[in-house]
Amino acid sequence: MPNWTKEQQAAIDARGCNLLVAAAAGSGKTAVLVERITQLLLKDGVDIDRLLVVTFTNAAAGEMRERIGAALLKAIDEDIGEDSAHLRRQLNLLPKASISTIHSFCMQVIRKYFHVINLDPGFRIGDETECHLLKLEVMEEVLESEYEKGNPNFLGLVERFSDNRQDAALQELVLNLHSFTQSKPFPQAWLEDQVQNFALEMDKLDDSPWVKTLLSSVIIEIQGIVDLLSEALILCEKPFGPEPYRENILDDLQQINGVLMPAARKGLSALQTAWGQINFSRLKTCRKDAGIDEELKKKVRDLRERAKKALAGLGGGILKSGLEQNIKQLNELYPYMQYLCVLVK
Ligand SMILES: Nc1ncnc2c1ncn2[C@@H]1O[C@H](COP(=O)(O)OP(=O)(O)O)[C@@H](O)[C@H]1O
Ligand SMILES: [Mg+2]
Repeated sequence: MPNWTKEQQAAIDARGCNLLVAAAAGSGKTAVLVERITQLLLKDGVDIDRLLVVTFTNAAAGEMRERIGAALLKAIDEDIGEDSAHLRRQLNLLPKASISTIHSFCMQVIRKYFHVINLDPGFRIGDETECHLLKLEVMEEVLESEYEKGNPNFLGLVERFSDNRQDAALQELVLNLHSFTQSKPFPQAWLEDQVQNFALEMDKLDDSPWVKTLLSSVIIEIQGIVDLLSEALILCEKPFGPEPYRENILDDLQQINGVLMPAARKGLSALQTAWGQINFSRLKTCRKDAGIDEELKKKVRDLRERAKKALAGLGGGILKSGLEQNIKQLNELYPYMQYLCVLVK
């Protein structure tokens, strides 16, 4: 038995709580888990068939079972005063113990309780190709019957997501969306929730996922403006740099870092107000006889122009008129997104 580290020992001994152990490969996670299980069997008198041990791979499950068996044999051999009848029984139970991948555990549960969920006991797991073909078949049937019904929202959806009267893009969208939702705990409820985001109202903007996304990308853009100005500042401070511009740049940075950035972290309306208040001052004059390098001077002016442009560009995305336009577009998509949801279901 290795000399367990303090952390390993704590993970082995902890009881009566949830426990998450994260550590690098080869650092001893499996060893710790095996020791935990062995201790549960040896010291706590637990029966192995009362435990569920799941792993990612069959190989890992096999390794786990083997290591637990070895630990039990060792304990029996050493006869360290534990109840050896209990230990022998564990060894007998081991082959039947639930030590498996999560998939085979689920399979086992379903096989045992198929009647509870009205499942044909002869069911089997389809392979990937088979499932894909089934999906395509269903897709074809669904689309065929939708074209027959001719609901305007369906036709509108086809028009928006297809090119040259081919609906392959729409099919792909539906399939992708379907497989994406399969990793959500409640796929259909999740889909319906997402669709509601298209029914966004102007006065409830701040809680919407769009605005959260917008604000985080605005923060990145503001950081970009700060970077441009910081570069300009360094050039101002170089030998023969345009020293008079330094004051301008410092003032710009103060406004962007001190006003705009905090506002963007606060929320949309704070950002809108702050954006309107930012005002880049007129560049100071550089006296002709001051020995300033024209190249450096031009670079600083260029960087500052780029910063100004980026700042102006921000306005398009965050100002009320721009947002109203975007929200109108989202709202227009709402009925089609609802229908997309129907197709995916
Ligand atoms: N504290 C320790 N001292 C010495 N060897 C250890 C210690 N902890 C784990 N080991 C050994 O290191 C090797 C890798 O451990 P393992 O549990 O397979 O790592 P992981 O599951 O984290 O990839 C095993 O041979 C294990 O016995
Ligand atoms: Mg491991």
